[in-house]
This record gives sequence, C-alpha cells and structure tokens, in this order.
Amino acid sequence: MRDIPLYYNPKVSGLRMDTSTNPLGANPAAKEALRECLEMDLNQYPSPYSDALRGALGQLYSLPADDFVVGNGSDEVLDIIFKSFLEPGESVVLPYPGYSLHSYFVKVNAGRPAFVDLDSDFQLDVDALNAARGKVLLLCNPNNPTSNTFRHQDIEAVIDGVPDRIVVVDEAYGEFAGKSFIPELEEYENVIVTRTFSKAYALAGMRIGYAVSNPELAGVMQRIKIPYSLNRVSEAVALKALRDQEFVRHSVKVVNEGRRQLNDGLRRLGFEVFLSEANFILFRGEMDHKVLVERLARKGVMIRDFGERRRLENCVRTTIGTERMNQYLLDKLAEVLRE
Ligand SMILES: Cc1ncc(COP(=O)(O)O)c(C=O)c1O
Repeated sequence: MRDIPLYYNPKVSGLRMDTSTNPLGANPAAKEALRECLEMDLNQYPSPYSDALRGALGQLYSLPADDFVVGNGSDEVLDIIFKSFLEPGESVVLPYPGYSLHSYFVKVNAGRPAFVDLDSDFQLDVDALNAARGKVLLLCNPNNPTSNTFRHQDIEAVIDGVPDRIVVVDEAYGEFAGKSFIPELEEYENVIVTRTFSKAYALAGMRIGYAVSNPELAGVMQRIKIPYSLNRVSEAVALKALRDQEFVRHSVKVVNEGRRQLNDGLRRLGFEVFLSEANFILFRGEMDHKVLVERLARKGVMIRDFGERRRLENCVRTTIGTERMNQYLLDKLAEVLRE
C-alpha cells in the first residue's frame, strides 16, 4: 500500500480540459435543486440507500429499484464492488491501458491487479482475458484514457468465456458513446454496470454514481456499502438532473460536434489522433509530452499527460469542449508548437 502514489492533484488555473467533465458547465438542474435544499432539514440523515434516487433510476431504465446501488461517485461504487466480491490476495483482471483508479481500488481492497494488454487498436484481447485468472474482470467502455469503445461481441465473449467470475463494465462515459450493456443485464447472473452523474450529467462536484445488476448482486453490494454515503443534497440534485434528459442529449450533441472540430484541428497541427467515442481525445505529437503540457498550462489550458505510461508513450489527453474552448486549445497548441 505504501507504493500507491497519491492521485492526480494539479495546481488548478485557467481552462480545465484535463478531467473529462461536461463542457457545458454545471447542470442547470443543480441550481434549482440547491435553492430548494435551503429549506431542507439537514439535521436529519439522508436515506441510507438513497431509495428515491434508486426508484428514479429504475423508472429511467424500466428496471426494479432493487437492481441499483447508489454511491458517492462511481468511484465509491467500484470500491463497494471489490469490498463485496474479493477476498484478500485474489486477482482482478484489468485490460491495459485503463483508468488508473481501477487498480487503486483493487489494491486498497487487498486484491491484486492482473493486467492484460489491449491489442494494437486498443481492442480487447479476448483469448488472453479469458485465460487470465481472476475473481473479477473489470473493463471500461468507452475506455479511459484511450477513449474508444470495445466491440460488443468481444465484451460478450469475455463475459461468456469465464461464467463464474464477476464482470464489471464501467460505463462512466457511456452516454457519449450511445452504447450500454444495461439492456442485456437480465440475461446475465455475473455482470455489473457502473455509471456516473459526473460526466454527461455535469455533476462531478456532487459525487454521485451507481451500479446496476441483478438484485442478488445488488443486494450483496447494498449490505457492504456505507449507509448514508450519498448526502441529502446530492440525492436531491441527482433527482432533478435525472428529469432533464434534454440536457444530457444536448451535452452529447455538443461533444459530437466538438470531436469533429478537435479531430480536424489536431490533425492539421500534425498530431496523431486516436479514435474517440467519449468526451475526450487521446493524441500525440513529436514534441515531448511534458514540455507540451507544461507550456500549455502556462498559457492557461490544462490537459492531462499520459506520456510516461507504457503503450501511451508521449500521449496526452484533452476533454472535448465547446466550440470556443476547442478553438482556444487549438490556438494555444499552435503557439506552443511555433515557439
Ligand atoms: C472510467 C472512469 N470510471 C469512473 C470514474 C469515476 O467517476 P465518478 O466521478 O463517478 O467517481 C471516472 C472519472 O473520471 C472514470 O474516468
């Protein structure tokens, strides 16, 4: 545990395009809900299992409320999954490269990450994943930081390949790809999907996430979860945001337009741009990644550096912004390259 590095904690200034949040800024439903929260009796505890929010999620997906477990960000939900299904020393199979906190949650729950490399197109190596031993397998779709989605038949083959292990599909960016495994959950006894309000719902600061699975798995997780982990204010905001699906659709549209703009602009500047199906783009150029990220930060734009990681040599990642944000990033990148 002593070897676990502290998480990304940069000095924040300027335009943030480093955390893959929503380019439209905070969900307008939040302000409205927060105004109503001024009258809330904060002397009272929240609902221990966020029953109202689980009910609303159930309505959205036409599933029973008991299929859902709500937590303090999908990060808490990932932690709950490993707490629930992992014994000390057991392995969790993780495609590589992936989201760095996945292996963190495995380690803090006394598990061992077993990494299996993605292929040269950042797609799943189904045979290697099925051959890898592990009590749980976790894949991220769309994958962070590569930003592509995996082929649906490969995900199915990975789930079918080892039927007695739990497969988690992290869909933190699922809304942007317009793909989800949730409609198929009923066919499987061993699959859990996690989702978040931090991205398409633009509520990262409120820390709200959820798991969906069959009620047996959800029931185990519910017992393990810390009661009250989602505070009353966050639950009220989430309920309001869930009713405004138009905001989510608009966010996806803005990101789709921004992706085209950035793909073109980055290529014109000479960068290699990887396929994006999320609200961020991975790219690499000839200039050293550290120099690029530092100089850009000095000009007031923060992007995320992945250049030290194996398979991502010299790569950086930017959030897809609004047209203005994207143009600002492209202008500043052009200046850095020129200088
Ligand atoms: C792949 C992935 N999963 C989960 C999370 C955590 O999201 P939350 O804000 O819901 O904890 C993130 C956040 O960036 C992410 O990239």
